[in-house]
This record gives sequence, C-alpha cells and structure tokens, in this order.
Amino acid sequence: MAPWPLLQQRLERQVVRIKALVLSGGKGTRLRPITHTSAKQLVPIANKPILFYGLEAIREAGIVDVGIIVGETAKEIESAVGDGSSFGLKVSFIHQEEPLGLAHAVKIAADYIGKEPFVMYLGDNLIMGGITDFVAEFQKNKPNAQILLARVDNPSEFGVAELAGGTVVRLEEKPENPRSNLALVGVYMFDAEIFEAVDGIKPSARNELEITDAIQRLIDTGKEVRAHEVTGWWKDTGKLDDILEANRMILETISRDIAGTVDSASRVDGNVVIAEGAEVQGSVLRGPLVVGRGCRIVKSYIGPFTSIYHDVTIQNSEIEHSIVLENSRISNLGSRMEKSLIGKDVEITKSATMPKAFRFMVGDASRIEVP
Ligand code: DAU
Repeated sequence: MAPWPLLQQRLERQVVRIKALVLSGGKGTRLRPITHTSAKQLVPIANKPILFYGLEAIREAGIVDVGIIVGETAKEIESAVGDGSSFGLKVSFIHQEEPLGLAHAVKIAADYIGKEPFVMYLGDNLIMGGITDFVAEFQKNKPNAQILLARVDNPSEFGVAELAGGTVVRLEEKPENPRSNLALVGVYMFDAEIFEAVDGIKPSARNELEITDAIQRLIDTGKEVRAHEVTGWWKDTGKLDDILEANRMILETISRDIAGTVDSASRVDGNVVIAEGAEVQGSVLRGPLVVGRGCRIVKSYIGPFTSIYHDVTIQNSEIEHSIVLENSRISNLGSRMEKSLIGKDVEITKSATMPKAFRFMVGDASRIEVP
C-alpha cells in the first residue's frame, strides 16, 4: 500500500518557525556512578533514552531546528542523536566548556538562536503530554517569556514561582523556605529579551548563571512573563527515585508486543514488550515491562515496571521495578532485586565458593543496600 497516511500526517504537522535549545551538558552528580561513564540524558526509560522523549515532543510541536548544548559527554550525545534526521529534526551541537548554568547555556547559544523566539528544553526532563499546547500558547500571547509550572511536594529542590492573580511576581532557585509549591518545569519559552537579561545577572551561590535569576530580571525590568501549568505528569529525572518513577509511568502506557521467542515453559502476563532476538526460557514475566533485543531471560521472574535494555542475561533471578542497562549479567541472585538501576556491563552473581560472604567490586559513588 502506498504510504499516504504517513505522508499526509507529515504534511499536516505544522512547521513552526522557532528553534529549540536542548540542554544536554552538565555533570549528573546525583546519578553517579552511572554518570561517571555515561550522559544522564541517555539513561533509557522503558528502553528509550530520556533525551529522545524531549526531541520527539519538540518535533511534535512542529519545531525542526534544534541546538543541543553538550559538555563532557558530547561524543556520546552526538553519536546517539546524529544529525537529528531520524527524529525529523535538523540538529546542531553547541559545546559548553563547563556547566556554568542554564543561563550560561543561553548565552553561548545566542548566535545559533538569532533574534527569533525559542523554546528551551532541559534534556533530563520528561513531560507526558508534550509541549505542543505550551508552544501554541506562547505564539498566541507573544509574551517576552513563558514558564511551565507544576505543583510538587518538595519545592525546595526546584526553581519556585510565586504568582499574584495569575501573574508571575517572583522566582527563586531552590529556596530553603519556598513561597509556593509551584516548581519550574524544565521547559521555557523566550524572545530575544532574554539575552539582555542573561547579561545582567551574576553567578549564584552554586556558581552558576541561573535561568531563574534571568527570568526574575525580565520581571524586574517590566517585561511580560506568563505562566502555564502542566496538565499531565512531569519528571525531572536527575535522581534515582525519579528515574524509576518515570520508568513506571511510561511503562504504564505500553501495549503488549512479543517479537522475541518465548518457550512453552514460560508465562507472560499483561503488557509486556519482548524485542526481536530476545529469548525467554522457563520464566515468568509479569508486565508492564520491556525486554530489549538480544536479551536472555532464563528460569527467572521479571516483575512489573522493569526495563531490561539490550543484550542482558538474567538467570535464576527475580527482578522487579528496576532498570538494567546493556550487556549486564545477573544470575543466581537468591533474593528478589527491586528499585535498582544497574549500569552497563555489570555482573551480579552468587558466589559458588566458601566463605558465604558479599564480594563487591563497585565504582566510585555507588550505592548498595543489602537485606
Ligand atoms: O528540572 C527542573 C529544574 O531544572 C528547575 O526547577 C530549576 O529551576 C532549574 O535550575 C533546573 O534545576 P536542576 O538543578 O535540576 O538543573 P540541572 O543542573 O540538573 O540541569 C538541567 C539540565 O541542563 C541537565 O540536562 C543538564 C543541563 N545543563 C546544566 C547546566 C548547569 C547544561 O547543559 N549546562 C549547564 O551548565
């Protein structure tokens, strides 16, 4: 059949003449040791890198030109995203020598952005429901800046907004005594006024040029800053619990799709994705969960909210509510593993010899909890 529906869909997607600036630099200290060797924005959630959800949301909003800020993990990000054509995007990479703050990233992107309005998207944020309405609202109202807000239980971990009658009156970055529970979500829209505001601020106590301070400067100099509240869920995936929670939420939306092989001694219940080339033998899989290509699951139980990336082997073990990255091997665990994030090429096994003791070889800043 001719690919008419696809073609039509493409044509129908409105192309918006604004650019996106995606921030994918930084150090990811809260996710060590994973981020000693990898970019935090590439940790897979339901087997897809976090950053890709953002790039898809940007394309969905009709934006094509994307500048990605990259830092010490530039190589990895560049090879994962390429020229952006697989997302329908035209991607340019902008190198930031040090993670000197979100407003610093805006500063160094000035030449790329030019004079047109743009959307800034933090590469470690996940927003269910995308950004299409947010971009459309900005285009309709044309303020100088538009911020996205979400109600949270722990506002002091975020930028916090204070509103008065729907107008943004004050913003503070990670305040000790927050004035509201409205956190700044990592998606912002700006017109060219932001460049002047960024030039007018000083580094914060954590020695970063804060975008929150730059937006406050817009307010203080009489510019219009509008707020839009998130309707679906949102996650800043900077910490382990948030990554696991994002994984749970995305897995709740998947449908059953079994392309790999499952033997007759196995049972697969619920929304389970098993990629082509994966093998399941004598195991129980209870969704929602995903198993990547080339994985081998043998005599094991894989429980809900688990994402197993490609080429992982799991034998005689029980795993639930966890993420396991590529090429890792888990065998003969003895107890059920849960709420864990296992890096690449990790081996976890029960020792075959005496004494009966824990033996570890773990990287810097690892966390291990034993029963
Ligand atoms: O997630 C929302 C929060 O993001 C907001 O509520 C805060 O107001 C905002 O400051 C920001 O806080 P974080 O402390 O979570 O930002 P983080 O350092 O994690 O950086 C966010 C993204 O930007 C991440 O993908 C790394 C990237 N980044 C960060 C810095 C500091 C850069 O590309 N360059 C940088 O210089």
